[in-house]
Amino acid sequence: METATAPRRVEHQQTDKGYVPVYTTAIVEQPWDSYTADDHATWSTLFQRQRELLVGRASKEFLHAQDEMGMSAHMIPRFDQLNEVLGAATGWTLVGVEGLLPELDFFDHLANRRFPVTWWIRRPDQIDYIAEPDMFHDLFGHVPLLMNPVFADYMAAYGRGGVKAHAIGPEALQHLTRLYWYTVEFGLINTDEGLRIYGAGIVSSKGESLYSLESAAPNRIGFDLERIMRTRYRIDTFQKTYFVIDSFEQLMQATAPDFTPIYAALEAKEHLPAGEVQDGDRVFQKGTGEGWEDGGDV
Ligand code: PHE
Ligand code: FE
Repeated sequence: METATAPRRVEHQQTDKGYVPVYTTAIVEQPWDSYTADDHATWSTLFQRQRELLVGRASKEFLHAQDEMGMSAHMIPRFDQLNEVLGAATGWTLVGVEGLLPELDFFDHLANRRFPVTWWIRRPDQIDYIAEPDMFHDLFGHVPLLMNPVFADYMAAYGRGGVKAHAIGPEALQHLTRLYWYTVEFGLINTDEGLRIYGAGIVSSKGESLYSLESAAPNRIGFDLERIMRTRYRIDTFQKTYFVIDSFEQLMQATAPDFTPIYAALEAKEHLPAGEVQDGDRVFQKGTGEGWEDGGDV
């Protein structure tokens, strides 16, 4: 099997997720002509499989935006073409990158409405699971909702908030990161037709698309900013708890206040385990906890 590759890992950085690779910060032109037939086939397989699964499971906004952008199973999209549609809709631009960026660079991109997209796609033997974000996760998972004006504003506000939290210190950053995790990556939204997925980490995973909505094991709890900021999360298993927003407007309004006093107040409070239901939670489902591994919350 042949895939487009380039030397990637350049250094490592200690984070709350352990020792993680940090890639070059350079923006790279998408090397579209270098994608192999296998690369396009991987995109097609994943696209078809997820779209089929996500009709009736992902939020309407997400599915609609994918169509509107012209993403299809046919072939790996060209960032340039997506940018014409995306720029006209919400002013966002996709920029190609090698992979994960140092936090401050990432925040700066978001604050300026640039979304970094990993240019390479996983190998065929990684179809079901890959630890690091690749193009399928970034492009299929994150990019569609940037077409939604409210969500697009939320992401830019998050970037500005990240620059601020970075200056305040590591604890503030940890609290803000949990918000990203439980919304942008693993968020659910309540609709008239029932719960739907909007988090990129879920929509880009077959297993978690089913688990997050249909399994009896995880908790599903109403969005609460401070509760989320206190809650540890899972990076190597499905989430033990999913948080449910009522609308993107609610998300925007709840995160509009200055977080500085919130970060300060949270310093005195304990972190919460990923899987525990708390007094005061708005519980959609209290999970059975079946199949959960002990330990390992970050
Ligand atoms: N209101 C936040 C702050 O003052 C910024 C933010 C907005 C963070 C939206 C996340 C999402 O830091
Ligand atoms: Fe992601």
